[in-house]
Amino acid sequence: MNIRALDLQDDGRTPPASGLLEIVQRGLRAQPKRLPSWLFYDAQGSALFEQICEQPEYYLTRCEIALLQVHAASIADRLGVDVRLVEYGSGSATKTRLLLGHMASPVSYVPVEISPEPLQQSVRRMGESFPQLPVQPLCADFTRPLRLPIPPRAPRRTVIYFPGSTIGNFTPREAVTLLRKMRGEMGENGGILIGVDLKKDVAAIEAAYNDAAGVTAAFTLNLLARLNRELGSDFHLAAFRHRAHYNALAGRIETSLVSQREQKVRLGRAQVAFGEGEAVRVEISCKYSPEDFASLAAKAGLEVLRVWVDPERMFSVQYLARAGSVAR
Ligand code: TRP
Repeated sequence: MNIRALDLQDDGRTPPASGLLEIVQRGLRAQPKRLPSWLFYDAQGSALFEQICEQPEYYLTRCEIALLQVHAASIADRLGVDVRLVEYGSGSATKTRLLLGHMASPVSYVPVEISPEPLQQSVRRMGESFPQLPVQPLCADFTRPLRLPIPPRAPRRTVIYFPGSTIGNFTPREAVTLLRKMRGEMGENGGILIGVDLKKDVAAIEAAYNDAAGVTAAFTLNLLARLNRELGSDFHLAAFRHRAHYNALAGRIETSLVSQREQKVRLGRAQVAFGEGEAVRVEISCKYSPEDFASLAAKAGLEVLRVWVDPERMFSVQYLARAGSVAR
């Protein structure tokens, strides 16, 4: 993907064309080194992520889809009629299709996605499944204020759909900020339908981020390949290793790229030095108990109205509204 492609269609607040190099340089100058996780999702990264979702160890997607298969009707019932559905990070839209299939006269579907290719793909897929449904794509960074397109008719409610436990990829503090932003965007009568991965047996969590086929490792390493493609850097992929470890105290998976030796990498005009065993933090995936998440939501002025959990208590889908709101 070319970052510039975003500038043509987005709300003007995503990183400018000159931004990528600066963002990466800043992250790799920081101590400890880190890179923002949205960098994963170029065309290749998005395709690899879909493969992660099919790995037997990666229970998250399977459980969330199973939850939707069982409860789509009651979830859709809870959301009500004439809903405008805004999805943060449009992805493969499998879950969205399950949901929309049960929704009564949805007003429109607004996928918000930072990468143009996956966005176009989800628009195409949605058009095939629901030819009558107005689709209003927005190429933008959903962590920033969004200018939502004007809906084709007045919705009864705007529901922000945020599946995949992507909320876990933010620190709790950032998650509160993001939930607060969503609270504003959805309006007085709005709701949030969100997928939240639950705390559970550590081995099961760690296996999900260290699949035996090595797809997750290929996914994290693709981040460096992407930088080589787009910035002309010379990361030697074989000299870095994927590492994902559960930090029990923080209740989160921490994913890093670990330098296997002392090395220097060219990045723009500068060089970045890596020590042997030095880690670049690329992602966190926080896990919540239902109580943890309710108190997080409360900090954002939100109330959990309903939680759907699978029988093994692996994953949850939760419906939130403004705390104390009469719009039920
Ligand atoms: N939201 C997903 C998660 O936290 C994203 C993800 C899955 C991911 N596997 C990953 C991110 C590996 C980085 C590395 O589970």
